[in-house]
Amino acid sequence: MAHISRLTLMGLRNLAIFELTLDDRAPVLITGANGAGKTAILEGIHLLASGRSFRESRLQRLQQWQSPQTTLFAQVDNRLGCQQLGWQRQKQETTLRLNGENARTQAELAWHLPVQVFSPESHDLLINGPSERRRFLDWGAFYQHPHFLLAWRQYQHALRQRNHALRANAPDKEVALWHLPLLQAAEQVDAARQAYCRALSAVASKLAVQISDSLSDISLSYHRGWSEDENLADILAHHLDHDRQLGYTQAGPHRADLKLRTQGRDALHVFSRGQQKLLALTLMLSQAQLLSESMAESPILLLDDLCAELDYEHRARVLAVLPQLGAQLFLTAIDVNSLPLTTIGYHWHLIQGKLQT
Ligand SMILES: Nc1ncnc2c1ncn2[C@@H]1O[C@H](COP(=O)(O)OP(=O)(O)O)[C@@H](O)[C@H]1O
Ligand SMILES: [Mg+2]
Repeated sequence: MAHISRLTLMGLRNLAIFELTLDDRAPVLITGANGAGKTAILEGIHLLASGRSFRESRLQRLQQWQSPQTTLFAQVDNRLGCQQLGWQRQKQETTLRLNGENARTQAELAWHLPVQVFSPESHDLLINGPSERRRFLDWGAFYQHPHFLLAWRQYQHALRQRNHALRANAPDKEVALWHLPLLQAAEQVDAARQAYCRALSAVASKLAVQISDSLSDISLSYHRGWSEDENLADILAHHLDHDRQLGYTQAGPHRADLKLRTQGRDALHVFSRGQQKLLALTLMLSQAQLLSESMAESPILLLDDLCAELDYEHRARVLAVLPQLGAQLFLTAIDVNSLPLTTIGYHWHLIQGKLQT
């Protein structure tokens, strides 16, 4: 079960030098006033694992104004042993380190440090377009299916090339050269996502009732990005002229979506904002549970400001469910009393980016 045993964050937002040593996997609670840097700590863990922040798309904004670089380090104990992960960004260049050597891709770090976050931004999963939901599904498929990432990359490559040929007004034959690699990769991406979505759906319906009565009737369905009764090869061939006019490929796994429904209707149109957040949280915790069941690895859960997001009853229900996931937890709150925690492992109070000792 993955857990962080040491963490160092330097030059990240208001964290000049932030260090934690954790002797065991007990939950970590960070409290502090607004602007203390609580979310920045979770952001640092997420950045080290995935190469991106969950609340800011421009990495430049994360680097501390006064600092020439951002440096992140974690010691992670996981199913494969003890791993040293490093991430540094200096003058727009990112360097990744894994066990004393340079890592080529962010995926190598992600593989060792599966991280799930729930924050005010998690609501975007429901309200934004399908790309957030595809990213969500792909995160799960990446850990569940060993060949998913390669197939996904091959698909993106073939798609880019086909779109490029369309825009360059290349002859039909040249565009069609990309059909076979695109179709082969599409089939693998689609199969992995479908299998993942089926497994996720089973876990989510069980977890949903534990979290909220109002979620008892949710359903998840995967839409693959082209019509169910046609095959993609025919669509690519028949729609070539239309694709050419548009300058891009209309159908394929890059148009997939995860539809969330309740009582036969789009959940977004039925649920209140609070219920939508509970649904987003349920999905995220379902991913965590599925990962621990399928891979004997549970992700690290980052729960940012749960109190601001949920009412007292639901906070209590969520906190009662968390232990069954077996994951290491990092929680933030303004005040310790707002979380109905029965056991707190570690509790630190943060003031202006520094832990109070
Ligand atoms: N690039 C930066 N350099 C230095 N400080 C920053 C930078 N970006 C944000 N901050 C400051 O860092 C703090 C980050 O706060 P945040 O993690 O959102 O706090 P909390 O979650 O505790 O409310 C804020 O006080 C903010 O003003
Ligand atoms: Mg915050």
